[in-house]
Amino acid sequence: MLQRIAHLEEEMLKRLSAVTSLESLDRWRIEVLGKKSELVKIQRSIGQLPREDRPRVGDRSNRARVTLEKAFEKRKGELEKRRIDPILRERLDVTLPGWPVRLGRLHPSTQVLREIQSIYSEMGFQVFDGPEIETDTYNFELLNMPENHPARDMWDTLYISKTLLLRTHTSPGQIRAMRAFCPEPIRVILPGKCYRYEAITARSEVMFHQVEGLAVGRGITMADLKGVLIEFCKKMFGLERKVRFRCSHFPFTEPSVEVDIDCLVCEGSGCSVCKNTGWVEILGAGMVHPKVLENGGYDPETFSGFAFGMGPERIFMLKHGIDDIRLFFRNDLRFLWQFG
Ligand code: DAH
Repeated sequence: MLQRIAHLEEEMLKRLSAVTSLESLDRWRIEVLGKKSELVKIQRSIGQLPREDRPRVGDRSNRARVTLEKAFEKRKGELEKRRIDPILRERLDVTLPGWPVRLGRLHPSTQVLREIQSIYSEMGFQVFDGPEIETDTYNFELLNMPENHPARDMWDTLYISKTLLLRTHTSPGQIRAMRAFCPEPIRVILPGKCYRYEAITARSEVMFHQVEGLAVGRGITMADLKGVLIEFCKKMFGLERKVRFRCSHFPFTEPSVEVDIDCLVCEGSGCSVCKNTGWVEILGAGMVHPKVLENGGYDPETFSGFAFGMGPERIFMLKHGIDDIRLFFRNDLRFLWQFG
């Protein structure tokens, strides 16, 4: 019996080396190692052998199986390699660099929002959130613009109902912050989306971001407003920037200003970005109107404050020489992938 096994093993190994395709290799496997194979028949018949012969025959047949299985795996590897190698040689240059993995990146608006937040947080401002769907009361009335006030025309508004609207600016957040903090002092910024019912052009979008700022406390003056905003402009646009405060008007601040920096494209000599004035407008600001302080719960005799509002997309456009705000929300990857 032992001899029969040794012979079988030898015979089958010889046949294996003659196998040249994966198909015939599979036939070899079924015949040699399958359920109906000679080897299995031998192993099944061990029980009928004399008791003393059984261990040796069992052991030998197991070893034969292991040898044949190993030989099969080896041959399979060789044949697979033989089949794939020419394909690889012909079609694949394994020395070529792989495709770069494309990672996501932050949207330009998110980038500039984070930059603005980080500058103000260094100055002690924390972020406060307000809703995008606002009431007419918060968006206008509490900001010193009662119904039918002509100043409301400054903002073309998307109304949801008679009393609900999509906020046209982040300023209503001022009242929300005051009502949340009162009577404590406040130093917050309110970043978020705003909506306006406007024709979409290179200079105006229906949806865009704003960052509002608000400081309320005892003894806050216009000098504080100037200090904070000059610091912001220099950190955002460069230390060499000149900053200019121009008188303006907003119903919720008194006095009101608009802040310009000298044009960072032409350095003040005049170009299309600054419309040949040498200056570009960055933000609106002012001392919080006493009525607005009152609406927020603060006594204007004791408290004062300043507020400001700016457009991050506009800031990003100035910094990167982009002349069309529509690019931000068009989702064109050729634009988005240039940043970040
Ligand atoms: N809310 C104003 C706008 O959308 C911007 C603004 C101006 C905000 C002056 C302020 C401010 O807080 O004091 O045009």
